[in-house]
Amino acid sequence: MNAFPTVELTVYPFECDAFGHLNEASFLALYERARWDALAKGPGMDLFRRSGVWPAVRKASIEYHAGVYPADVLRIETIVTRRGTTSFSLRHTATRLKDGAQVSEAELVFVCVDPLGRPAPIPEEVGNFLGPRVAKGTELLRVETGKGGATLPVEVRGEGDIILFVHGFPLDHTMWRHQMAGLTKWKRVAPDLRGFGGATAPPHPEAYSMGRYADDLIAVLDAVGGASRAVVCGLSMGGYIVFELLRRHPERIRALVLCDTKAEPDTAEGRKVRDEQAGLAEREGVAAVVDRLLPKLLGKATHRAQPELVAEVREVMLRSSVPGFAGALRAMRDRPDSTPDLAQIRMPTLVLGGAEDELIAPAVMHQMATQIPGARFDSIKSAGHMAPLEQPLAVGRVLGEFLESLPK
Ligand code: MLT
Repeated sequence: MNAFPTVELTVYPFECDAFGHLNEASFLALYERARWDALAKGPGMDLFRRSGVWPAVRKASIEYHAGVYPADVLRIETIVTRRGTTSFSLRHTATRLKDGAQVSEAELVFVCVDPLGRPAPIPEEVGNFLGPRVAKGTELLRVETGKGGATLPVEVRGEGDIILFVHGFPLDHTMWRHQMAGLTKWKRVAPDLRGFGGATAPPHPEAYSMGRYADDLIAVLDAVGGASRAVVCGLSMGGYIVFELLRRHPERIRALVLCDTKAEPDTAEGRKVRDEQAGLAEREGVAAVVDRLLPKLLGKATHRAQPELVAEVREVMLRSSVPGFAGALRAMRDRPDSTPDLAQIRMPTLVLGGAEDELIAPAVMHQMATQIPGARFDSIKSAGHMAPLEQPLAVGRVLGEFLESLPK
């Protein structure tokens, strides 16, 4: 269930500025009204006060996609995207009822503070209210990938044409939570790959290869009714898998989104490092490798400004199973060269990556885009290797524009 019910608010003339529309200050106030309305409908507007804390806004970012005028009625959806010990994050999406246009999105990070302004743990009653961080209507399907395969949890949201999200290494489907919360005109589908998140982890090394992952995605598409072609969006290892899917099952794909990924295989040196890391994970556990990988997984701006996100990504990485972790390293080691395939791609393609990506340089991604006929390239500022998680609003805008441009 989702803590915050959807509310509909009418825009009043006095909220609008001299140009007759809602500016950013009044938009933030409108989102605040939506939060209070949701509390009023649920546990009461004094939920925080009676628990002895106050939710102070630590960070707010807002984006507009269209002007909003008096008498417009907006549907405001609010989703809890993260819960830490003292802080939590919300995402608001505003859709205008009369034309279904998504007019704005905002991300807010709150920290609970005590009467002296010191961070305080989220009180139990508030924690109960915030609930699990997935939205109402979210369905976690469990997909069996066939004999000798794995069972994958799959988050499915919304109705419409399918966009399938494929996570990177060593993460799970929650890395797509902002894209799952937005893109409301699409049926958004995000599985955990075998060995990661809540998926089962077959013990045998041969259970992990780009081919296995790609075939698992077909099982996922079949299970969510994806007989028609899907837009497929993969990040890093997810992108390597998308290339394999393209070789094996091109008829199931309508358009590609390649995030922070590349077409080249590993170098000889890179293959050696994969072997060392897989061996280390098997001998000492995944934690021994995770702290080596983490610094480069997120951009410098994220390490500086979003320490809670760094901590959260680390937690997700630590949840990887040993066979899944080592299996993925060896599968990446053995992946084929996808560069000869680039010039053969005949479908709309978006390549995007963090401008601060230290694992796959923006120049490499740009070069890949130039080899795919008609592909677009976008570089996301203040993001590293995990651009969709680090800068969700900027990625949402680029992705939204790309999806809108697709032939119907
Ligand atoms: C990923 O994010 O999936 C990995 O960094 C990819 C890789 O190690 O090549």
